[in-house]
Amino acid sequence: MKRIKTGVEGFDKLVQGGFPQGSIILISGGAGTGKSTFAIHYAHAGAENNEKTLFFTTEESEEMIIQQAKQFNIDLKKDEKSKKLRVISLNPEEGCMINKIKEECKKFGPKRVVIDSVTTLLDSYSMVLPKKYETILSQKGIRDLNAIFSHFISTPYTVVEDTVIPLPLNDKLINKFILMRLFKTLRDTKASVLITSELLEDSKSLSRDSFSEFMVDGVILLYFTGIAGESSRNLQIRKMRLTQHEKAFFSFDIIRGKGIVVNTEKGRSLLLK
Ligand SMILES: Nc1ncnc2c1ncn2[C@@H]1O[C@H](COP(=O)(O)OP(=O)(O)OP(=O)(O)O)[C@@H](O)[C@H]1O
Ligand SMILES: [Mg+2]
Repeated sequence: MKRIKTGVEGFDKLVQGGFPQGSIILISGGAGTGKSTFAIHYAHAGAENNEKTLFFTTEESEEMIIQQAKQFNIDLKKDEKSKKLRVISLNPEEGCMINKIKEECKKFGPKRVVIDSVTTLLDSYSMVLPKKYETILSQKGIRDLNAIFSHFISTPYTVVEDTVIPLPLNDKLINKFILMRLFKTLRDTKASVLITSELLEDSKSLSRDSFSEFMVDGVILLYFTGIAGESSRNLQIRKMRLTQHEKAFFSFDIIRGKGIVVNTEKGRSLLLK
């Protein structure tokens, strides 16, 4: 089994040397827990290892990602110049994001793909989906859910033809279909994929949408805990197919000029959740 190095100091030791090649890994955590930073390390490690890498951001501009990386002494501009990396900012107003991801992957042929984040990607679909359209679907029912959704996902504004079988349509179902389409697109690329998802503090799921965790090959949870004025960052590998991974919580730091450094000493791992 070929392992993909994450570029995050200390992390790969916890997962037998890296992520299994070709897998889709989800990094889930609350605001500011380090998801984008992890993704930046992963993208840079790809470029450095001569693997063509595509970094899709749905939250920030290309410049912001490059700027953020610079804080950690990571030169993504250089990676772009050497044609090993492309940072692409996805904007819902410019059309279907999943189609754009598909097209860019086809053009570039990446070995690694990052999507930061899948939560904003999903949110943007529900924003784009006009309420009128949703009402038409739920009132008339759907004849062929898959066909309708593939149509909807590629051309969100198109009005759907008449349908016969009643089927309740809710946000969860929409999200599930969008995610299925996204994961199919990503699997087809055969690349090693890292996606990020927001996680609400009191969530019982492992992602905001509560589906992704079942569709991916691995889940890493990031936590930020504050107790009595002391704060700490922790991570846990919650799932990793094909891997005998560590199960404990490990503390980590985000350091200026360096980025994420995982403390892999078992005795110092914290259980503060
Ligand atoms: N230059 C820096 N030096 C040290 N720590 C930094 C630096 N820049 C950012 N950080 C820390 O990293 C955190 C942000 O990390 P990051 O953007 O990776 O989190 P995120 O989980 O992607 O956040 P969001 O939910 O906003 O997308 C900041 O809140 C800060 O604590
Ligand atoms: Mg982020």
